Parts: sequence; structure tokens; C-alpha cells
Amino acid sequence: MASLYKSSRTALPSLSSCLRASASSCRTRARQRIPQPARPFHVTSLRRTADDQFTSKTRLPEFSLKDKVIVVSGGGRGLGLVQAEALLEAGATVHAIDRLEEPADDFARVARRARDSLGSSLTYHRLDVRDSPALHAAVRAIADRRGRMDGLIAAAGIQQETPALEYTAEDCDRMLGVNVTGVFMTAQAVAQQMVRLGNPGSIVLIGSMSGTVANRGLICPAYNASKAAVLQLGRNLASEWGEHNIRVNTISPGYIVTAMTASLFDRFPERRTTWPQANMLNRLSYPEEYRGAAVFLLSDASSFMTGADLRIDGGHCAW
Ligand SMILES: NC(=O)c1ccc[n+]([C@@H]2O[C@H](COP(=O)([O-])OP(=O)(O)OC[C@H]3O[C@@H](n4cnc5c(N)ncnc54)[C@H](O)[C@@H]3O)[C@@H](O)[C@H]2O)c1
Repeated sequence: MASLYKSSRTALPSLSSCLRASASSCRTRARQRIPQPARPFHVTSLRRTADDQFTSKTRLPEFSLKDKVIVVSGGGRGLGLVQAEALLEAGATVHAIDRLEEPADDFARVARRARDSLGSSLTYHRLDVRDSPALHAAVRAIADRRGRMDGLIAAAGIQQETPALEYTAEDCDRMLGVNVTGVFMTAQAVAQQMVRLGNPGSIVLIGSMSGTVANRGLICPAYNASKAAVLQLGRNLASEWGEHNIRVNTISPGYIVTAMTASLFDRFPERRTTWPQANMLNRLSYPEEYRGAAVFLLSDASSFMTGADLRIDGGHCAW
């Protein structure tokens, strides 16, 4: 404690010495002793002047993802695929990573639309995010091929409903392996390429409102713990990678109608009624309702946002 006090006294000028010295020379001394980022922060969207923004013929240019290269894990179906289509519409080139042998039927339609109508492309990479060497190699190959790496949506995740008294260590490890380590390694693989190529970037981790609350009537202790970990991971990665101009944010969805929840509705049909009643809009959400959030967080529209969680849950957690 004493040494801590001593080191903090030497690290910053004391109040009394500040009062004695002129305010400006004190500020200069303090600034010299506080570690500064390795290189100055740099915001791409601010290259445009205010005048440019008002006279631009393009509406809301800061939402454009033109020429950006973005990886979407879990992009073979569900929320990841729907968000991938939104990114493509905003101009991005998208690489989807998923462990499915074949992506969902809709993937082919989106890939065709990207090629024929959007002047872009959607590419599928079959990968398990727990296979870290393969994951890193694939992301590096994407960066080499495109010459850049601009963004990530980490949506790959699993869910398991088992009472806490019966949960096995193996199942718990599997849950954390995919939802936490898998998400972490995907973010790391993408961030390494951003740093290597020296381009700024934006990373979005898909959390859940279940990372903030225990769901009434849904018994999934390891899943909820994994999503809380995703939210905390996002804040930590943001704090470490800000100096590389890489932003990291999380999205916390409420209940979404996807294959993940459909399997639960098959087993517990009453949840189709009880779950909507738990939020202020009295309904479930659809993956399409997270398109705007994906484009917002990946684009310069959110250029000053990092270390934040965007909760989109129909007010579930606000009650
Ligand atoms: N559906 C919901 O109500 C809901 C709510 C909040 C958060 N979420 C989160 O949204 C994300 C997407 O979920 P969804 O509802 O679209 O479910 P989904 O099951 O349809 O999609 C998840 C995708 O992740 C892939 N995946 C799973 N494990 C993988 C692994 N080890 N390696 C690579 N890919 C893997 C699956 O193959 C699947 O394509 C998940 O992180 C989920 O936890 C879902």
C-alpha cells in the first residue's frame, strides 16, 4: 500500500505543487507522465468536413460499407446470415464462417443477390470456431486475398437448456468453448489482420439480454454466463484495441425467432405465449430487426462508439 501511494505520488504532480505552479505548466508535466497511446487515434469518418456531409449527394454516407471486408461467424443461417445480407446491401464484401456442412437454403439466394444486384460477394467458409489454428489461417487468407480487413460480427453461438443441478462439466466446457473462447479467438484473428494491414476496424460480438438478466422460465445457466462473459470481453477488447483504431461493441438481442429458439418452442409450446409477455412490446423479435444495428456498428455512423452494449430487447430488461 505504502509503495503504491509512493509510486502514485511520483507518477502525478501533487495538488499542492499544482497550486504553486502555474496551471498550464502543471498540466504539461502531468501529461508527460501519463502514458500516451502508441500512435494518435484517427477517425476515418472525420476526414469529411461538415460541408462535405451537407452537400454530399449520397444520403447518410457514414452508413456506407462500400469496399469494406467483413467476416460474419455463424453466418450460415439465422441472425448471422440476415445481418450479413444487410452488410452486403450497405456495400460490404462478406465472408461467412460457420460449422454447418451446408449453409441454410437462403444462403444461396443472398450470395446470388450479392453477385447479381449488389456488386459484391458472399463467400462461405466451413469452420468450427473452436479450431483456432484453422480459424486464424482462414481469416489471414481472407485478408491476404482482399488486401484489407474491416470488420467482424461474431454471431456463432450455441444454447443448451439444462438445470444447474444436472449440468455436466463437459457440457459447460462446450458452451464456454463456443460462446466465449470461440468468440474471443474469432475477434483476435480479425483484429490481428487489422493491425497487420494497418487499417481501422469495427468488431461486433453478439451477446444476449441473457448476459444481463436470468430469464424467467428459461433454464440455461451456462449459456447466460457465457453471454455475460461476451459483454465483459467486448469491454476489455475495446480497451486494448482502441489504440489500433479498432472499435469493439456488443449487441444484446432479446428473444429472436430463429432455429435456436424454434427447437425450444417445439419442446415447450407454451413459451410462444409466455415469452412475448415478458417484454414491453408483447412479441418476439425477428432477425431482420437487427439489420440496422449491424450496419450502424460496423460503419462510421458509430465512429465514437466503443466498449458499449447495444441492447435490443423490446424493453425486456427495462422492466
Ligand atoms: N435466437 C435468440 O433468441 C437469440 C437471442 C439472443 C442472442 N442470440 C445469439 O445470436 C447468435 C445467433 O443465434 P441464432 O438465433 O441465429 O441461432 P442459430 O443456431 O440459427 O445460428 C447460430 C449459428 O452459429 C453456428 N455455430 C454454432 N457453433 C459453431 C461453431 N463452433 N463454429 C462455427 N459456427 C458455429 C451454427 O451452425 C449456426 O449457423 C448466437 O450467438 C445466439 O446466442 C440469439
